Amino acid sequence: MQSLILRKPGGLDRLERIDAPEPGAPGAGEIRVRLHATSLNFHDYVVVTGKSPVDDQRIPMADGAGVVEAVGAGVTEFAVGDAVVSCFFPGWQDGPPAVGDFRTVPGDGVDGYAREAVITPATWFTKAPRGYSHEEAATLTTAGLTAWRALVVDGGLKAGDVVLALGTGGVSIFALQYAKAMGATVIVTSSSDEKLERAKTLGADHVINYRREEDWGRKVRDWTGGQGADQVIEVGGPATLPQSIAACRIGGHIALIGVLTGLGGEIPTALLMARQIRLQGLIVGSRTHQQDLVRAIEATQTRPVIDRTFELPALADAFRYQESGEHFGKICVAW
Ligand SMILES: NC(=O)c1ccc[n+]([C@@H]2O[C@H](COP(=O)([O-])OP(=O)(O)OC[C@H]3O[C@@H](n4cnc5c(N)ncnc54)[C@H](OP(=O)(O)O)[C@@H]3O)[C@@H](O)[C@H]2O)c1
Repeated sequence: MQSLILRKPGGLDRLERIDAPEPGAPGAGEIRVRLHATSLNFHDYVVVTGKSPVDDQRIPMADGAGVVEAVGAGVTEFAVGDAVVSCFFPGWQDGPPAVGDFRTVPGDGVDGYAREAVITPATWFTKAPRGYSHEEAATLTTAGLTAWRALVVDGGLKAGDVVLALGTGGVSIFALQYAKAMGATVIVTSSSDEKLERAKTLGADHVINYRREEDWGRKVRDWTGGQGADQVIEVGGPATLPQSIAACRIGGHIALIGVLTGLGGEIPTALLMARQIRLQGLIVGSRTHQQDLVRAIEATQTRPVIDRTFELPALADAFRYQESGEHFGKICVAW
């Protein structure tokens, strides 16, 4: 079977296509999945470009979707033919956060899903939403579940909340869609007026160009009658957090998701305290969160926005496209 591996020390020119042996029969508690799609995330980019240390010959990609083609003894949750999607943290099944690093994450600490087939414990996957293509399902493992957890699990989203989503990448567009589907009012920022127009077609109630409006936190407060956003989807990190704090209402919630602008920086701690804002770091979510997300998608009929799809051997080109920042929503790879 076809597989991609990453050679040490990483880099887009260090992705190599190999012919690997077909996996055999699944053991007790395992499933064999014929994979058909993955999707790109900033985390995968960090791994493949060697910005974080990686083992030689690691199979990249955290997101994987496909069809169950064999089940091992004792597996009752899945049947042959089920469409499934992988879990970001195979070991975090339920309950409060249990992991604080990427050692167990497919495509980073363990082999991922840039390959045609895999055998894993059945608990490493969940069912995919009914009616989703494999490509669509593959967007949920990382980006979809992160947006869901930020808004619903940690943020306790309710109809009428005002949500601020930064940028128009994978996580933020999911946040826009889920928030709208659940009755929230959504503000989106972007560097591009064209992308902001697209966000409006997805239901964004108000848009701000963060390049033109450096004081966009103030703009959010003004638009909300001086109150601020109830929830902020913070993907920028140090360069955007001060404005996110300025944009957040008293007692609001900021989900600290991304580090697009760097790994550390100054935080206006006095304002954070005075506004009594909950600043919550998070990494994706548990398998139970993913099952809840799949149920919500089936009820709301939300579909991911896929910007472009590449073929598996063109994974490096897909990452180059991500690097360009031209995308809106998700970039996928399907085979
Ligand atoms: N903690 C977690 O569980 C988790 C999970 C997934 C992702 N993440 C992190 O979240 C971040 C976004 O991930 P992603 O997969 O959504 O990335 P992505 O699809 O590559 O999206 C990046 C988008 O962020 C926007 N952006 C870039 N710089 C910005 C800035 N200074 N201010 C506001 N927006 C900015 C851009 O939007 P415009 O082009 O519209 O300007 C860009 O398209 C990354 O840091 C990633 O590592 C974390």
